[in-house]
Parts: sequence; structure tokens; C-alpha cells
Amino acid sequence: MSAFNLIELQNQLHGQKPRAILKAAFEHFDNLAIAFSGAEDIVLIDLAVQIRPDVPVFVLDTGRLHPETYRFIDQARQHYRLNLDILSPEHLALEALVKQKGLFSFYQDGHQECCAIRKVAPLRRKLAQLDAWITGQRKDQSQDTRQDILELEQDAAFSAPDKPLYKFNPLLNWNSAQVWDHIEAYQTPYNSLHQHGYVSIGCEPCTRPVLPNQPERAGRWWWEDASKKECGLHAGNIKN
Ligand code: ADX
Ligand code: SF4
Repeated sequence: MSAFNLIELQNQLHGQKPRAILKAAFEHFDNLAIAFSGAEDIVLIDLAVQIRPDVPVFVLDTGRLHPETYRFIDQARQHYRLNLDILSPEHLALEALVKQKGLFSFYQDGHQECCAIRKVAPLRRKLAQLDAWITGQRKDQSQDTRQDILELEQDAAFSAPDKPLYKFNPLLNWNSAQVWDHIEAYQTPYNSLHQHGYVSIGCEPCTRPVLPNQPERAGRWWWEDASKKECGLHAGNIKN
């Protein structure tokens, strides 16, 4: 990691395009990785490998992704010859949860507990080894939780007291149409669920297709309040 002034770099990156934000990330950090959800954030990978072909990428394999998503992740792995880590939840915690509450407890008592085990704990383990991570978050994904994100943030949720962790959001200023223009123009692989009305894609039991003009995250955890639709990966987005 090269020395930098956070506020200055934040100001430089304000309103910038994905490629410029990725370049800055790679200029300042060696020890960083892309978090890939297996959806339209493939664009991030498509752009990043042009700058750093062996950029580390990781997927949080919750065990509950759609079959189409697993197929797509492997397609992306082969297409880009990705340096890919697929992370699994810790088995003791997961077995205890499903023994006590079964496989669909989130419909009764909210998604936080299951997400904490299947997503957040493996993410925390991964992030402890990194100086920075790169996500596919965009402002246009949510009026409720994604309007105040910055291109570069110090990650308050995952920084250790003695080691700050930084988070780059290169797609922040692109909207969905720009992402899909890139996928079309550069013929990148994409998740076939997008052909069936799915827009934002997470785990199979917690994702459904949305109707045209519905907000894109309406299909995620649809039984919960829109202002709570973050799973803990991006906990800083939720306002108290
Ligand atoms: S989520 O927090 O609601 O699940 P969303 O699906 O909008 O997030 O994705 C935003 C970004 O979070 C993705 O572009 C990716 O960087 C990261 N992300 C989400 N899910 C995963 C996952 N399963 N594995 C790795 N990264 C993920
Ligand atoms: Fe569990 Fe649903 Fe969260 Fe996936 S999105 S980890 S299935 S609660």
C-alpha cells in the first residue's frame, strides 16, 4: 500500500468513471481483491482484468445461490482465467443454525442471522487478510441505502483497530443501463437469470424477479422493509 491522503483521494475520485477508480485502486494497493456476486458486477471484472489480469477475486458461496449463478461463476472463472477464491461458511455455526431453525428461518425472523453466518463471517475472515476490497455497488441500486456511498471509503464495519481497511466502489456512478451497455458492447458473459426478469441477484430463497420499473432491489428480501435491505456486507450503508 502506498501512502495517500484519504480525503484528497476521495475528492479526486468523486464522480469518476469505473476505469479511473480501478486504476487508482491498483496504483495505491497491491493487497486487494474484488468481491464478485455472480451478477452484473461482471463488468467490474471485465474492466479490472484489463489493468491487472491476475487481480484476486472472491465469491462468498452461501450454499444457497441459484444453479444458474454457480454455472455463471464458473463460466466467468474460465473466460477470464480468474484468480478466484470461493469462500464457504464455517460448518459448525451453519449446522447449529439449521439444526435449531431449519433452512428457511429468514422468512420468520429476518435475514440477518443467516446472512451473518453464510456471508458476513466468511467475508470478515477474507477481509482480515486484505488492505482494500473492490465492490460492484452502485448508487442507482437503492434510493434507501446506496445514495451516500463514496467511490473510496474507509470501511468502518470491517477495519481492525490497528489496521484500516479501504473499500473501492468503481461502478458507483454508473447506472444499470450503462452496465448493460458495457455487457452488450464487449459481449461479456452474464448470468442467465437476467433473461428471466431477475435484476439484483443474491441467494435463491431471498431473490425474486422484479417487474419493469420496480426498484431493482425490490426482489431482494421482499418481505422486509426497504431501508433494511443490506445483508451486512455493506452494513455501513444502513442509517440508524
Ligand atoms: S448485497 O449486500 O445486497 O448482497 P449486492 O447484491 O447489491 O449486495 O451486491 C453489491 C456488491 O456486493 C457486489 O457487486 C459484490 O461486490 C458484493 N457482493 C454481494 N454478494 C456477494 C457475494 N456472494 N460474494 C462476493 N461479493 C458479493
Ligand atoms: Fe441466508 Fe438469504 Fe442471507 Fe442468503 S440472502 S445468506 S439465504 S438470509
